[in-house]
Amino acid sequence: MNNSRLRYLSILLGVLIFATSCSSGGGSEPEIELGAPIANQAANVTSSSFKASWSRVYRADSYLLDVSEDSGFASSLTGYNEKSLIALNEEITNLESKKVYYYRLRAVNGTVVSSYSNTVEVTTTFVPDPNLSLKKAADTFLVGVSVQSGKLNGQYDEIYRREFSSITAEWEMKMNVMHPSAGTYDFGPADAIVKYGEDNGINVHGHSLIWHNSTPDWVKNFAGTDQEFEDMIEDYITTVVTRYKGKVTSWDVVNEGLEDGSGNLRNTIYRQKMGDDYIAKCYQFVRAADADVLIFYNDYNMITDQTKQDAVFTMVDDFIARGIPIDGVGFQMHISHDYPAKADIQKATDRIVERDLLVHFSELDVRANPNKDLTSLSPERSLSQKAKVKEVVQVFNGIPNGNKYALTVWGLKDSETWLLDFYGHVDWPLLFDGNYNKKDAYYGFLEGLQ
Ligand code: XIL
Repeated sequence: MNNSRLRYLSILLGVLIFATSCSSGGGSEPEIELGAPIANQAANVTSSSFKASWSRVYRADSYLLDVSEDSGFASSLTGYNEKSLIALNEEITNLESKKVYYYRLRAVNGTVVSSYSNTVEVTTTFVPDPNLSLKKAADTFLVGVSVQSGKLNGQYDEIYRREFSSITAEWEMKMNVMHPSAGTYDFGPADAIVKYGEDNGINVHGHSLIWHNSTPDWVKNFAGTDQEFEDMIEDYITTVVTRYKGKVTSWDVVNEGLEDGSGNLRNTIYRQKMGDDYIAKCYQFVRAADADVLIFYNDYNMITDQTKQDAVFTMVDDFIARGIPIDGVGFQMHISHDYPAKADIQKATDRIVERDLLVHFSELDVRANPNKDLTSLSPERSLSQKAKVKEVVQVFNGIPNGNKYALTVWGLKDSETWLLDFYGHVDWPLLFDGNYNKKDAYYGFLEGLQ
């Protein structure tokens, strides 16, 4: 046999052996072990797209991709039911914002198809509609802001009307302003604020009839008997509540009446003159003047100061048991970007709802710089603040509608927050920056409503 013959025979033999090995198994499919692909977390997630990608599978020549809105893949997005792909990634487009999608794959070699990969869940990002506003987004409760009578014009006015459905006077409806001396009242600023609310269809929350920090000197140094003091307080409450009857929906009647830590009654002039039941007395004066106005107890540190929180609810339960009028509880919510925890806000809020009272988060501001480590608001801190605002709004939005009153922010712009004076260092606790621009925190509010 010459060489070429030998080569011919050996090729023939090879072909025969190959053909025999392929047909062993009696004509069934070739037995290729095709592993399942591993689907990676989605990348480049936007409000309308994301990039799906997966691992290469040995001997796979293509992949089948399913994308669905349903984790069980009962149906798939158009074009994404077993979409055959050779590449190891695919850009999925034309999606809806803030929506959850799922994807999974199988590998293919000829007619052999692997089992499914893991399923990847991906949520497209949220892009608010530019026509959206806080009050439009929060359609089940009032969104409030504290205001000043001299700043109800220009951009303040524009933003108040666009974004907010409730206002609270930051300081002009307190006793030191409205009742500066015995026998005299100054309702000028309060009237302007209430009129602004009326003219623009914005709710007005009254704040606050009795507060130790806004007690005028003449009241602190009251010259007269205890009964005369009580009569004077009754007269003051009756005068103010009657004046704004039908215009002011709700009043913080006594603000910050309990002490931190102990939860004891704060030893104010009101307590000294009118006795331990002075809060109940004031509530009754309000109710006598206006049968419909909502009566709130308002205080701070009620989330994390458990003793104070317990004391407030003990007082509230006592009022309910004795038939003393009370309609709601206000948590001031002067908080920080990393504190308190959402679960603690939730637990404290639940205690208001359990008593079927109205909830007011009445003075929200979220410190971004509680440890004074920043001189300007960093992107990271801004996002941390946004996340906290979102949590607060999520808790509020989760309250049964019948128990929601309002979520009020304590000021419009960072540059005018009371905290600059109060803590004496720079911070950015509000939803708008000093130039009236919406901050991340603003979008956190909107996202909390999604
Ligand atoms: C603050 C105002 O923001 C300041 O402008 C004013 O000088 C003092 O009061 N708890 C309250 C609010 O209930 O009334 C306080 O408002 C902030 C703390």
